[in-house]
Amino acid sequence: MSRVAVLMGGRSLERQVSLKSGARAEDALERLGHEVLPIDAGPDLVERLSTLAPDVAFIALHGRDGEDGTVQELLDVLGIPYTGSRVSACISCADKVLAKHVLRDRGIPTPDWHAFSETAFRELGAAQALPAIEERLAFPLVVKPAGQGSALGIKFARTAADVPMALVSAFSYDRKVLLERYVPGRDLAVSVLEDADGEPRALPIVEAVPNEEDFYDFEARYEIGRTRFVCPAELDDELTGRASELAVAAYRALGCEGFARIDLMLHADGGELDVLEANVVPGLTETSLLPQAAEAAGISFDALIARVLELALNRA
Ligand SMILES: Nc1ncnc2c1ncn2[C@@H]1O[C@H](COP(=O)(O)OP(=O)(O)O)[C@@H](O)[C@H]1O
Ligand SMILES: [Mg+2]
Repeated sequence: MSRVAVLMGGRSLERQVSLKSGARAEDALERLGHEVLPIDAGPDLVERLSTLAPDVAFIALHGRDGEDGTVQELLDVLGIPYTGSRVSACISCADKVLAKHVLRDRGIPTPDWHAFSETAFRELGAAQALPAIEERLAFPLVVKPAGQGSALGIKFARTAADVPMALVSAFSYDRKVLLERYVPGRDLAVSVLEDADGEPRALPIVEAVPNEEDFYDFEARYEIGRTRFVCPAELDDELTGRASELAVAAYRALGCEGFARIDLMLHADGGELDVLEANVVPGLTETSLLPQAAEAAGISFDALIARVLELALNRA
């Protein structure tokens, strides 16, 4: 039995999802017999953690602060063990550009891209380089903010005329954006969970299948009912094996710990795979992909939470 602080909510755009993830983790931890101390991460976070002095923190914060290493750094300072990845992996995964560099350096496939900061446009005339980039990446291309987040700020540009507005939209979320080659194909999510010995294992793959063929509107794809999730994804053994191995390779390359969800694209032609990104604090809600994948592997939600906590305590 441990005293477990469940960190949730926070200031991120994914606050609502985090509150749901946190509430579910809280219930599971109580059923597992732990003393649960729920904390909505705000200005009194450090004070509350210092006063409560929990044995361990269960991080159920998505996006900014909870997934980018900020809260992990504070927990390190306070000497409180925590679930999931440590600071450096959080920093790498929260920045899609940094993550893609790490992956490419390790020979792990990720779609071609070019990334720029706002200052490159404002002070160095980066706009003049757009035609060369567009020629290299071809249309349609994907414009996204470097920072994480549930398809927020992601836009397709079908022609050069769409690029400026797509950039403006992405820059409203982050000071750094990337232009990425569009991969026509299937959207796969591979959750990775470490076994009791700390060995990362891929769980059954989840495919996001759009109900309507509106491939050009990511934001709509995330609306309820517009995307169907299939788990295990209908893939042959060879592809399942390759996608699983690739996800574990990306997990290791980025230095993830405990658990993570790796998003992949399976090319419609040729069956190649590309890694899009890694999420170090995947959703834990009833409709989230990691719990679905765990369930498909015969791991109940409570067992999943127990494992993640145990890994954090073992590390400490
Ligand atoms: N290069 C790409 N080609 C095709 N689809 C993409 C590409 N990048 C992103 N997408 C689509 O957008 C979704 C969200 O992109 P992702 O990079 O995972 O960002 P996030 O999940 O953090 O918003 C993906 O699951 C995929 O459906
Ligand atoms: Mg994603």
